[in-house]
Amino acid sequence: MDFDIIHLREVDSTNKYCRNLGKMGKKNLIVISDVQSSGVGRLERKWHSQYGGLYFSILLGLNEVKNKNKNENMGKLNFIGSISLYESLFDYINNASKSVEDYNIKTFGIKYPNDLIININGNNKKISGILSEVNMDYGFLILGIGININNNISRDLKDIAISLKELTGREHNRFEVFNKFIDRFKNNYHLSDSEILNKYEKYSKTLGNYVKIITPKEVIIGTVFKIDYEGIYLSTFDGIKHVNVGDCIHLR
Ligand code: BTN
Repeated sequence: MDFDIIHLREVDSTNKYCRNLGKMGKKNLIVISDVQSSGVGRLERKWHSQYGGLYFSILLGLNEVKNKNKNENMGKLNFIGSISLYESLFDYINNASKSVEDYNIKTFGIKYPNDLIININGNNKKISGILSEVNMDYGFLILGIGININNNISRDLKDIAISLKELTGREHNRFEVFNKFIDRFKNNYHLSDSEILNKYEKYSKTLGNYVKIITPKEVIIGTVFKIDYEGIYLSTFDGIKHVNVGDCIHLR
């Protein structure tokens, strides 16, 4: 699998840029931008995208990610993205002269659905996130990834977000991280569903945890006993609940 890479200095959002290219029939390409003026996060939030971070989107043809339905297609790609992010950043941090333990990281893993979190001094902080979208009419999928590398984290997000620079006390080459991610992504892309799910389960910090899920319709509190392409399954006082949208807050 080969990708054409488009590197921009500034764009509103690399997902939006890919969407336009997808409508023109393009696929198998990656758009990276040094800065995004209107970076978008999950649940229509803003994604702060100052210089120094890594912001890119991967555009793929829908018929290459062969699963039965829309949720599964998106779910699968999200999982491939998450496990590749985990592996590339874990690998990168461990090779950057120290190991993950040396940085006093208590937890390093995936928070449902696709956040990579680091627990430092008791606080879960997000280092990267994924925003995926599918377009059935034009037959494409977009996986948008943001990683806090050298960018400054704004004061109002300091409690919930961290950059690689803040974690390690030095600047990093964004493209080294990017290349590691792409290598992992290409390998993981060819794994079977069970291999992808096994890796996700291994890296997940949400599985087995007591969590609160805030969906547009309800708030669910319970223990997570399963996560798959179709969503997250919780055991609650009201029985088993299954959702596939919302914010997940770890309560322990
Ligand atoms: C999240 O809320 O966790 C998802 C954040 C995704 C941000 C990335 S940055 C590259 C791509 N372009 C966007 O506008 N958003 C995604």
